[in-house]
Amino acid sequence: MRMTITFITGANKGLGYETARRLIELGQTVILGARDRERGRAAADQLGARFVTIDVTDDTSVARAAADVLAHEGRIDVLINNAGIIGSHLPAEQLTGTEATEIFNTNVVSIVRVTHAFLPLLQLSEHPAVINVSSGMGSFALTHDPERVESKPISPLYTASKAAVTMLTTQYARALPGIRVNAVDPGYTATDFNGNSGYQTVTEGTDAVVTLATEHADAGTGRFVSRSGPVRW
Ligand SMILES: NC(=O)c1ccc[n+]([C@@H]2O[C@H](COP(=O)([O-])OP(=O)(O)OC[C@H]3O[C@@H](n4cnc5c(N)ncnc54)[C@H](OP(=O)(O)O)[C@@H]3O)[C@@H](O)[C@H]2O)c1
Repeated sequence: MRMTITFITGANKGLGYETARRLIELGQTVILGARDRERGRAAADQLGARFVTIDVTDDTSVARAAADVLAHEGRIDVLINNAGIIGSHLPAEQLTGTEATEIFNTNVVSIVRVTHAFLPLLQLSEHPAVINVSSGMGSFALTHDPERVESKPISPLYTASKAAVTMLTTQYARALPGIRVNAVDPGYTATDFNGNSGYQTVTEGTDAVVTLATEHADAGTGRFVSRSGPVRW
């Protein structure tokens, strides 16, 4: 059986790093993508992964990363679009196109950019998969359910960006029938993203992504899942 080769963006820390650690532990070959050379290399060295520089907002950086992986590994089986930002904490009245452009570029446009660049590498896999790290904060159902923690914060740009990530996922799943394209909701997890206020550990927060990265090739496409199962859109 061929070894699974997985490329993860934003993997120098937080959920991306923990995903890399767990997939390596499970025997996968992981290429650790990060925008900062020093921090990325240090993280990869700690885990025994190969480091590739990638700033997901930069076309040239993304194209270089894909070329590097083609030259070294020759293909990938799993692409994990994990890199993301929380964006501005300004009140809604003060949000402008600048804040919106920044967060949509990183969280949404980058998924198109990276997926486009890595598609030729995925197409060399027998069972290619793309996993987009979305959020329950991007779910219309959860953000309007008073029983759910996702209904408490008000964060127009972050929620809208993650709703777009989930929609991109289901549309790519329909457009690319040869590739399993799924989205995950990690759940509220203690990382730098939220000043470590999340109530889950990074291991709990990566349960869903690890499942999607290791499941059977016919497990299905166009799904949005958390560690507890399907997530309402
Ligand atoms: N933590 C949660 O509760 C939670 C819940 C739901 C969804 N998520 C999602 O999970 C993903 C990972 O979040 P996290 O909690 O692990 O946050 P984190 O600890 O802040 O890590 C975010 C990662 O993304 C990277 N990144 C940001 N912009 C980038 C860019 N332009 N190019 C390349 N890398 C970039 C960061 O790199 P630097 O270190 O260089 O900044 C870092 O490696 C995000 O998509 C987030 O929206 C998190």
